Amino acid sequence: MPVLHHSKPAQNCRWHAFKNADELEQAAVARILSAAQQAIEDRGAFHIVLAGGTTPKKVYEALRDAKAEWAAWHIYFGDERCFPREHAERNSRMAALAWLDHVSIPAAQIHPIPTEEGATVAAEKYAALVNKVNSFDLVLLGLGEDGHTASLFPQHDAGDSADAPSTLIVSDAPKPPPQRVSLSARRLSATRRLIFLVTGNSKAQAVKDWRSGRAIPATRVMPESGVDIYIESALFDGE
Ligand code: 6PG
Repeated sequence: MPVLHHSKPAQNCRWHAFKNADELEQAAVARILSAAQQAIEDRGAFHIVLAGGTTPKKVYEALRDAKAEWAAWHIYFGDERCFPREHAERNSRMAALAWLDHVSIPAAQIHPIPTEEGATVAAEKYAALVNKVNSFDLVLLGLGEDGHTASLFPQHDAGDSADAPSTLIVSDAPKPPPQRVSLSARRLSATRRLIFLVTGNSKAQAVKDWRSGRAIPATRVMPESGVDIYIESALFDGE
């Protein structure tokens, strides 16, 4: 009998090209709010994982002025840099200043990754927390110039196996700071919807690699419902 070799399933990508970053951000805000309304109608709560970095900042600032049932929102983070809680480089700090400090989401429903307690403790505590959530409703992710997402970097374990832990500790990230805690690709994939937000010409090579089938870390996140990639159309040029 031949040995069956199961190749990794392909990532189901839906590419959404926008004329510019503003249009992309407006579409992302609308999609987030509609996903929230649907989740709250269906299950009484909305569990969303936020992307770090700078790309989502304007989306978060636009959400500050949105009308939503904030009392039913539960906020998680896809990754966090190992800095003190209020450090300007923390992903949780960016989201708080841009959005979360300005809306009435109960503080007990906003879950920063506690990297101020050290990577090991933070990874353990956050795994215990997210393991209580069977499936997120929406995960937001960015894309790095090298094809990384969250803190899943090239030549590093993406945590995409079926038995991968929910959180990963990164001690030598090529993007400063070197120490980070990330949700694993497996855990990021346990979501009803997932949107990548990709803007800026610096991401052109990563997008080209992605679309040509290279196994950049972003391809390791494979929710059953596929991934929606919101991208500036200029990044498609040359195809
Ligand atoms: C981080 C982010 C990281 C980010 C990408 C894109 O902690 O740095 O989680 O994965 O999303 O590096 O960053 P920009 O949005 O700043 O381009």
